[in-house]
Amino acid sequence: MEKLSKYYLTTPIYYANSRPHVGSAYTTIVCDVIARYKRMCGYEVAYLTGTDEHGVNIERAAEKLGISPQELVDRNQQIFRDLWKLLGIQYTDFIRTTSKEHAKAVQALIERTLEKSPKAIEKRKYEGRYCIYDNLYVSDSPEPADCPICGRPAELISEENYFFRLSDYQGRLLDFYREHPDFVQPDFRFNEVKSFVEAGLKDVSISRKSIKWGIPWPGDPEHVFYVWYDALTSYMSGIGYANDDPARRARFDHFWPADVHMIGKEIIRFHAVYWPAFLMAAELPLPKRIHAHGWLLFEQEKMSKSKGNVAYPEPIVKVLGNDALRYYLLRETVFGQDGNFSREALLTRYEADLVSGLGNLASRVLAMIENYFGGIVPEPFGEEGTLGRLFGPVKTGAIQSYEAFDFSLALQEIWQLIAQVDGYLVKKAPWKMASDASRRAELSGVLYDAAEAVRVVAILSHPVLPQATAAIWKSLGQSDSIAEQNIRSLEWGGLRPGTRITKPEAVFPRLDYKDVSERIEAMEQEIRNPGSAQPAAAATPGSGGGAAPAPAQAASPAAAPVEAPGVVKIGIEDFAKVEMRVGLVKSAEKVAGADKLLKLMVDVGDEVRQIVAGIATAYQPEELVGRKVVVVANLAPRKLRGVESNGMLLAASTAEGKPVLCTFAEEVPVGARLK
Ligand code: MSP
Repeated sequence: MEKLSKYYLTTPIYYANSRPHVGSAYTTIVCDVIARYKRMCGYEVAYLTGTDEHGVNIERAAEKLGISPQELVDRNQQIFRDLWKLLGIQYTDFIRTTSKEHAKAVQALIERTLEKSPKAIEKRKYEGRYCIYDNLYVSDSPEPADCPICGRPAELISEENYFFRLSDYQGRLLDFYREHPDFVQPDFRFNEVKSFVEAGLKDVSISRKSIKWGIPWPGDPEHVFYVWYDALTSYMSGIGYANDDPARRARFDHFWPADVHMIGKEIIRFHAVYWPAFLMAAELPLPKRIHAHGWLLFEQEKMSKSKGNVAYPEPIVKVLGNDALRYYLLRETVFGQDGNFSREALLTRYEADLVSGLGNLASRVLAMIENYFGGIVPEPFGEEGTLGRLFGPVKTGAIQSYEAFDFSLALQEIWQLIAQVDGYLVKKAPWKMASDASRRAELSGVLYDAAEAVRVVAILSHPVLPQATAAIWKSLGQSDSIAEQNIRSLEWGGLRPGTRITKPEAVFPRLDYKDVSERIEAMEQEIRNPGSAQPAAAATPGSGGGAAPAPAQAASPAAAPVEAPGVVKIGIEDFAKVEMRVGLVKSAEKVAGADKLLKLMVDVGDEVRQIVAGIATAYQPEELVGRKVVVVANLAPRKLRGVESNGMLLAASTAEGKPVLCTFAEEVPVGARLK
């Protein structure tokens, strides 16, 4: 395929302190679809992803595990690479922010900024609140404040920092937005960005003195770079900015500026305000577009490990295959808006659109060619038939939708053609023609058109369904690669009569709903709680794990060997599986409609958890706030009266049936483990 031009797209680089879930994989899968589509349009594509490995969050997570931050990120970045491999993500470049090449690029960028715009950087005292989880300066005053992203209390910071004078860039940013009306997509997000900038900008502190785990400021190594300055620069370092290797530098010159930075909506300010201002100050070209997608919700909340409401991609891919997850994510949610993840909806789509839709059509058509024409593609009608006339608008619609990143619509257009081919086959009933020798030419035309429709559908849906369409392509007797077909110059009639097809295999096997659901559930359970998976039969679809015993009760002894009636002994290794930590109750409230339940927000050191406990008959919510409690921290999440509980409080069960919470007579730090 002739290369049209270059196209550079990026995912955000992922925080290397937690394992990716379906929500985080969403950005990467979407970008993979775009990358494959653009390649099929003839572009030379660079696709960057990577890991964000600095910051206080990582430093603390490593400390807790008793390992160095470097060990932690080395381990975790591999989890991302393994997942992208499993998901068949065709990125071309991967950047780690702890790499030497990246550190050099960050230092080079600030040096260039100091040279081009010396007034943009200023050293002064900073006092304010900072959220370590979202790496966000929450307020510039020492007053207590909660993070607007995660809602957790922000930490007090007081230190001498380097500031970027963002306030000086308001006018320039607004001019730039005016001149580039497509800079941020979707439009409603761009409006939010403009209003934010119009309201006035505060300077941002871009260095930190209080932490060590970061890139040292050139000439002032007591300071490390603020993680967002560091992270945003990965979009340039990842393709060779300021690299020692001239070939890498040439790659940067070739690909920069990026065509699209694909991001989730919560990080738009960093990308659409800070990043362009940083680049303006360095006098470097700005990215062409920032595209912000919505969140994947799980029961109406953002999927997040700390809340325990996550689905992981690995079990879905292992049971249903990569294409099923990709198709579901792109078809079910209108790109740009929030979408809800549900295993039921995933299985329904799999069954209806993939098994009964594309899979069934391909295998029926190929089987009829095998049976009626000995596996040789028959001759078409003399002139264009019904399906050929339907193809043109479907192709135009699908391409327009891909271009607009409206993946759901693109798939709807393509699946409309599948439905039309199904209807056409029912109407023409080639199986009846097959027994009538005088209708041989008609049978040939009908099956040629149906096979050609399968071919064009395979090409049009290849960016979303790379594996299944490659298998269909091979079954259609095509020897070249489907990925190398030019989607824009796709025309009706490309299938050559006389081509030998191969016996079709079911690209999407029909599966038993209950069995599949249970297998996915058991694997998810194992990820959430390694070693704790219940036998698959014990889990119920959508139960969210179900292994957690009721709050304020003794742990279930189900799997332990019984020594004597009523006495269960477990080995130390079993006990060690239970993670108990000191928690601090931040807030407490009654659960509506449940007399015994209280909903608590409990700080367990590295996160604030929502825990539902059956202690409302013994405690008033107000008296619990500020109290230290013992939390069983590694229980699988479960729902009590529809409210998610991520852990359990330990309490003694008294003869009167009144629970008495465990607490400490001496001072203990929040998050400390109990052994
Ligand atoms: N490290 C920063 C990005 C720095 S880029 C210079 C970061 N990392 S992240 O790991 O928290 O998020 C990576 C991507 O995953 C973001 O695009 C984020 O929006 C996306 N998602 C994480 N959870 C998500 C959902 N539940 N739903 C959809 N996408 C979400 O931010």
